[in-house]
Amino acid sequence: MKKWIALLLVSAMVLSVAACGSAPGESSKGEDARFTTAVEGKLTMATNATFPPYEYLEGNEITGIDAEIAAAIAEKLGLELQIDDMEFDSITEAIKSGKADIGLAGMTVTPDRQEEVDFTVSYATGVQVVIVTQDSAIASVDDLFAEGASHVVGVQRNTTGDIYTTDDIEKEGLGTIDRYGKGAEAVQALKTGKVDCVVIDNEPAKAFVAEVEGLKILETEYVTEDYAAAMSKDNKALYDAVNAALEELIADGTVKGIVDKYITAE
Ligand code: ARG
Repeated sequence: MKKWIALLLVSAMVLSVAACGSAPGESSKGEDARFTTAVEGKLTMATNATFPPYEYLEGNEITGIDAEIAAAIAEKLGLELQIDDMEFDSITEAIKSGKADIGLAGMTVTPDRQEEVDFTVSYATGVQVVIVTQDSAIASVDDLFAEGASHVVGVQRNTTGDIYTTDDIEKEGLGTIDRYGKGAEAVQALKTGKVDCVVIDNEPAKAFVAEVEGLKILETEYVTEDYAAAMSKDNKALYDAVNAALEELIADGTVKGIVDKYITAE
């Protein structure tokens, strides 16, 4: 096929896609013409509120850094924020299926996840750390990968802590991974001696260690990562609006203000 014919075909396709995007039904429903959301007039956020200080329950209310950032984004877009609490490993599906508009859950950007969803700009950094009992023989992260090591490692299912330790420890024959629905459950298992350590993000780790006596966080860090909001690959207009709003909130210091409210600098 001649190049210019191919080009014409491509632009015809682009035009028809664009035409679909602005189907008359949409604006007549009163939907904001700039983008569509899962529920009209609302920004639906999928999260897993077991992850202080990013998202956790205070009574019946979901609060934390991500909830406040989402509220600020929603306000900028003239939407009402609705938060749906679910298992951590259900968030990606909720985004892909269009049930939720934005996944905000201290979620790390990884290449595998980028195949499923689009990530906004990063708004925070996380570090995978290791929690042990105060009298533990495990003194540094490297002890987990030492020749002949055989530890039982607790993680929250499908988090990066799970993914990394599965690769570095379980698949290498250096121990087994116990996967829990919540990070706090993994920490309880550590407390009761069912696991030898817990690999989890540093901020929830601090919160859990402050709550449960006799535990400490190893000083050596495992992996540093970027947190971002997950969004559908099929709603470019909403992605652009949310990402632009988040960029503004980062630039004007709003995000830093929210983070500082929950995390006191060492
Ligand atoms: N940063 C880790 C990940 O993305 C853990 C996130 C867990 N978040 C939560 N709300 N439970 O896999």
